[in-house]
Amino acid sequence: DKKIVIAVDGHSSCGKSTMAKSLARLLGYIYIDSGAMYRAVTLYSLRKGWIPNGQPDIKKVIEGLNDIRITFRWDNETEKNTTFLNGENIEEEIRKLEVSQNVSPISTIAEVRHEMVKQQRENGKNKGIVMDGRDIGTVVFPDAELKIFMTASPETRAQRRFLELKEKGLEVNFDDILANVKERDEIDSTRKVSPLKKADDALVLDNSNLTREQQLEWTLEKVKERT
Ligand code: C5P
Repeated sequence: DKKIVIAVDGHSSCGKSTMAKSLARLLGYIYIDSGAMYRAVTLYSLRKGWIPNGQPDIKKVIEGLNDIRITFRWDNETEKNTTFLNGENIEEEIRKLEVSQNVSPISTIAEVRHEMVKQQRENGKNKGIVMDGRDIGTVVFPDAELKIFMTASPETRAQRRFLELKEKGLEVNFDDILANVKERDEIDSTRKVSPLKKADDALVLDNSNLTREQQLEWTLEKVKERT
C-alpha cells in the first residue's frame, strides 16, 4: 500500500489525538502530537520563569528554543505516546491546567512556530505519518493526501477533558475547563500567525454525537480511498 500523510486539525479537546493515535496504530504509521511540542516549550518557559503573569518574555523564549529538544516515544504495550523534553518524561506535566493556560500565548510567537514546523516536517518527510494540531493541513503539510478537520461543541469538549483529568486523579473544576476551552478557541482562531482554520480541502468531522469507533470507521474509509 502507498503511504500517505494524514493531517488532523481542530479545536482543543475534540478527540483529535485519540483518533490520530488509533489511526496511526492501525496503519502502522508514526504519530506526532504537535500540541505536545508547544506544550513542551511552554513548560520549559514556565520553569525558567519566562511567563510572569501570563505574558511571555518573547526574547527569552526565542533564545531558549536552542536549548530545547523534544522527542516522542511510542510504547506498544500501553499504547501510549510519551513526550520528552531534553530526555525528561514530561507527558503528565504538560497536560496540567497551568500549561494549558499558558500555551496559547507561547504558540502565537512566530519564531516558536517556525522552529516547531521545521521539526514537524522533518518527521513527515518519509510519509506514513498522522499528525494532529491546528495548522497541520494548512501550514505544516499543505499537500497532505488526507486532511481532517475535527470539531465538537465547547461543552462536549470541556466535559471530555474534565473526565480525562479526573480519571488521572487531578483536582478539577468543570467551569474552569470550559472557560479554558473557550479562551483557547478564541486565541487559536484569531492569532495572526497560522490561526486555526479549516483547510479548503479538509473533510469536516463533527463528533459531538459519534463514538470513537464510528469516527475511526469513517476515517479509515477515507484512507482507503487514498491508498
Ligand atoms: O492540541 P493541544 O490542545 O494539546 O494544543 C495545545 C495548544 O498548542 C493549542 O491550544 C494551541 O495554542 C497550540 N497549538 C498550535 N498549533 C498546533 C498544535 C497546538 O498552535 N499545531
